[in-house]
Amino acid sequence: MKYENVDIFTFNSCKPKKEQSPVGSGTEENAGSKESPAEVIKENLAELGNDSPDEISPENRNMSKIANSIEGAPDPVTSDLITSILTSDTEEILQPPLFEDMRKDCLENVPDLTPTKSSIESDIKSDIESDIESDLEFDILSGHAEAIFKSSSLSTTAHVSKTASLPLSDLSFESEVLGSSVKEAFPFEGFAGCDDNVLKAAPVSEAFGIVTTGIEPLELTPSGAVITGYITSARRSEIRLGTYVVVPYENREKLFARVGKLQYRQEFVVDDATEIHSRRMLSAGGNPVNEDDYKFLACLDPLCILYRKADGKLTRRMADRIPHPNTPILPVTDRLEVQTGLNIPEEGIFLGHLSVGGELLKTNSEPETVAYYLRNDYSMGDPLIFRHMLICGSTGTGKTFLSKNILRQFLREDNRYRLRSSPDKARKNPCLVIMDPQDEYSQLFEDNETLTDGDKFRFESENVTYGRVLSTRAFVAKVDGQRYPGDKSRAEQIEFTIPFSLVEHNSWLIAAAGMSELQYIGLEVLLGDFFKSSVPHTYQNFVNHIDNEGTRSYYVDSGKLHESSYDGIVRRVRNPFFSKVFDRDATSIIDLVDKIFKPGQISVFPTEYISAPRIRDLIVLTIMSLIVDNKLNTTGKEAIKETPIILALDEAHRYLSNANGEHSRLIISRFADAARQGRKEGLGLFLITQDPQDIDDTVFKQINTKLILNLNNDAAITSLKVPKEYERRIPYLKKGQMIIHSPDNSDIVEIIGLSNCVVRHR
Ligand SMILES: Nc1ncnc2c1ncn2[C@@H]1O[C@H](COP(=O)(O)OP(=O)(O)OP(=O)(O)O)[C@@H](O)[C@H]1O
Ligand SMILES: [Mg+2]
Repeated sequence: MKYENVDIFTFNSCKPKKEQSPVGSGTEENAGSKESPAEVIKENLAELGNDSPDEISPENRNMSKIANSIEGAPDPVTSDLITSILTSDTEEILQPPLFEDMRKDCLENVPDLTPTKSSIESDIKSDIESDIESDLEFDILSGHAEAIFKSSSLSTTAHVSKTASLPLSDLSFESEVLGSSVKEAFPFEGFAGCDDNVLKAAPVSEAFGIVTTGIEPLELTPSGAVITGYITSARRSEIRLGTYVVVPYENREKLFARVGKLQYRQEFVVDDATEIHSRRMLSAGGNPVNEDDYKFLACLDPLCILYRKADGKLTRRMADRIPHPNTPILPVTDRLEVQTGLNIPEEGIFLGHLSVGGELLKTNSEPETVAYYLRNDYSMGDPLIFRHMLICGSTGTGKTFLSKNILRQFLREDNRYRLRSSPDKARKNPCLVIMDPQDEYSQLFEDNETLTDGDKFRFESENVTYGRVLSTRAFVAKVDGQRYPGDKSRAEQIEFTIPFSLVEHNSWLIAAAGMSELQYIGLEVLLGDFFKSSVPHTYQNFVNHIDNEGTRSYYVDSGKLHESSYDGIVRRVRNPFFSKVFDRDATSIIDLVDKIFKPGQISVFPTEYISAPRIRDLIVLTIMSLIVDNKLNTTGKEAIKETPIILALDEAHRYLSNANGEHSRLIISRFADAARQGRKEGLGLFLITQDPQDIDDTVFKQINTKLILNLNNDAAITSLKVPKEYERRIPYLKKGQMIIHSPDNSDIVEIIGLSNCVVRHR
């Protein structure tokens, strides 16, 4: 019974594959076959040596039986065992003369593989002692497997998983490599087929491994590539999905690639999907995998070929060459190579540092990190901020922190934009207009006191702008019963009110009170007539006007408006919150336009202090439409038309959500128009949201740069339409880590934002 189990286990773990050429045929090729039973036995013999342990206790005699049986002293139990290990093809190998020859051969040729007597003893003994004291069945199994498969050269580095039937040549190579501990001394020079020029051009000591054709053929087609790399055991922990590598060609060109797939494969005949193997691994108490038992493969997705143009400038082109087999796979250590390979601008608006799997990518340059910049010049069209930007991430993932860091970059004295429509074509600093629902952005007026000199030095070395912006002003809407605390910063506060006259061309400002389509049409009629009248165009006058019995009968009796529509409109317009907002005792926002839209200024509109969401929305929508209308209108106010404006809209989904209802469709289409003309008019949208899926499609399509922080909502992730391999990472992004999808700026990449804020963020 016990031996039946033994047979199953040992058979599974060491039976040669049927398709292997028959062993014992006497040809050298067969003898050298990696998976031939002859090899297995050769190796086992080498393992055991001449001396069988003689100090093994009688209770554990199974081990000594195995050893004895291999020595040619048949034992009824172990001879069964060995017979069961081998297939019929292999039986003749067990004939003593051949057996003895092989043993000698083995011992002569591979002295380094021969374990010392004491190592065998201790191996066997410890297996016997530790494994199963009382379970004879398992004792035999483990002892047997150990004796048969253990390679002495490998056993110097680890104990448990050295179960292998290596071909002898491989073993001697392996032992040499393993002996020379780490990165250096990989004998790439010795690989046949590797182009010498390639090796001369490449510091092979840094190589992760080589391009191999041993598993899959190397392949490059217009639709894709199969480029497999063998990664040497010392470097495996450094490779992860997304790691960037270069593979040199003979003429100094380099393939720039990204690791797109990682794979372990069995190096030896023995597979690890066996009962015995798993039990031994489990009983070994979490010993690490022995890398030498496995091939570790990295499949490379080619991104481009790096080459130098005649003028010496590093450039990239499509990956149109296949790398040579056996060429080293090298880490990317040159910052310019990374930037060129990923098409990242060398300067612009600093967004963060390139990273892979949450770790900063380090190069040999100084500083060693690779800064990621957003194109901010006219060399390839317009600065990309005018093609709009979206920051999205679940709540608390660092949207505001990141936004402050980025927005601050636009407020550099030398950052100037030209407006195409501007008659003098003068370049001007932009004005940042920030809708601030949590009262955080007025802190752009304050320094971050926690920045150290070291931080500042690093910022300067990478052209990161930091420090307070003195031209930060808070514009505070006057709302009855609400007070702006203004205690977050010392920025100047300027009160304003929204004049009802603005509603003349923006009837939706009061339609936001939830009118039906019919009511909205009626409202437009009423407003049209009211604004034609000579009475002052205040909210109160409008309410008085429509509340009047005479007016009512004028519209209802004449059939201009249905009775129920009319009454519905009046009810909604009389909503008390309108009276708290319109025409308050403060300067009209229209009169403040010159103060708000000033080049080089940050104009913050805090709304947190207002408890009614509808009032907050009304204020935000008013500012949005003020900007959009004046930018789009040929006769728009000069302060708006002639100033490059970056409009930062936190909680953007609230204002730009998929339109339902006539009035919101109107807002959206105006906004989408403004977005489309952003480049011409100098209007950049900087949208911040946790629900990107709610942003209207027409606006969404206009966004060129998406910064994606951690999101865990599937609908949100899908709406971003990033390639699948990046999509899967989004729920795992750590704070500060993000994916940048900005097709006109660079390839899609992962970056990490600054870990400290360039201005105050509390
Ligand atoms: N890159 C970072 N490194 C260190 N701390 C960070 C980073 N990003 C954000 N934080 C910290 O995380 C917290 C949340 O950040 P933040 O307020 O920017 O999140 P948010 O996404 O804007 O949240 P909300 O959804 O509430 O608006 C803050 O305390 C901030 O200081
Ligand atoms: Mg926030």
